[in-house]
Amino acid sequence: MDQQALIQTLSNLPLGDIRYFSSIGSTNDEAMQWAARGVRDLSIIVADQQTAGRGRLDRPWFTPPATALAFSLILRPKAEEVAHLSRIVGLAGLALADAFGKLGLAPQIKWPNDILLNGRKVAGILIELTWAGEEVDCVVVGVGVNVAKGATPSTDVLRFPAISLEHILGEAPDRIRLLYNILTSFISLRPHMHADSFMASWEKSLAYQGMDVRVEMGADQVIVGKVSGLEADGSLKILDEHGKSIAVRFGDVRLRLFA
Ligand code: BTN
Repeated sequence: MDQQALIQTLSNLPLGDIRYFSSIGSTNDEAMQWAARGVRDLSIIVADQQTAGRGRLDRPWFTPPATALAFSLILRPKAEEVAHLSRIVGLAGLALADAFGKLGLAPQIKWPNDILLNGRKVAGILIELTWAGEEVDCVVVGVGVNVAKGATPSTDVLRFPAISLEHILGEAPDRIRLLYNILTSFISLRPHMHADSFMASWEKSLAYQGMDVRVEMGADQVIVGKVSGLEADGSLKILDEHGKSIAVRFGDVRLRLFA
């Protein structure tokens, strides 16, 4: 990735500080340390390669050089955002969906943190928090996108089928332009995070709406039912076989289509 072009393109956005690494362990690890040192809102770390990228549930995240988009955006929540922090994963999901939409694609958000194209995972979001006593100090929004074919891990390390933008578009889009579009959408949607219209957009983008799914929580709890939308806090609503609505909260959760 051309560092100069990256900095120049991102300088058109109202960001905090920008850091670029040609190779790093994990941009989220770096962001968590940076956040603890009092960085500005909307500071960002971008890496061409990660050698210890992390996904949800302690899974590894594969980021070989020159193939993927990997970045961590640091938010310092404003007072009015504190009540809606659980919606930030939706904000990131919608920003990604919006940017993929600009490429002529029809993405869906697989709750809580995956973006799907043609039913396969093209991007993932990892949200982590830093604390100041009882209060959230920073929210780190880590995003990984499979841009070129080489970014998709081999099937033996996958728990869910993956795809890249190149697989669908025939060529890999420019990563800097893609990042610019994701950040532009993120910044413009952020002030609307509290609104019902924001939740409606998130719900509209959800994968598996009305379909039978299996939700595994922790080691031994399983729910089977139909996806029926989102709660105000972003929890997933499942209608079980007895017609009872169950709210599935963020955490140790795995969602699959019920085959
Ligand atoms: C998931 O699907 O489980 C989330 C994947 C998040 C990966 C991104 S890549 C940039 C940032 N740094 C990391 O170590 N992880 C996130």
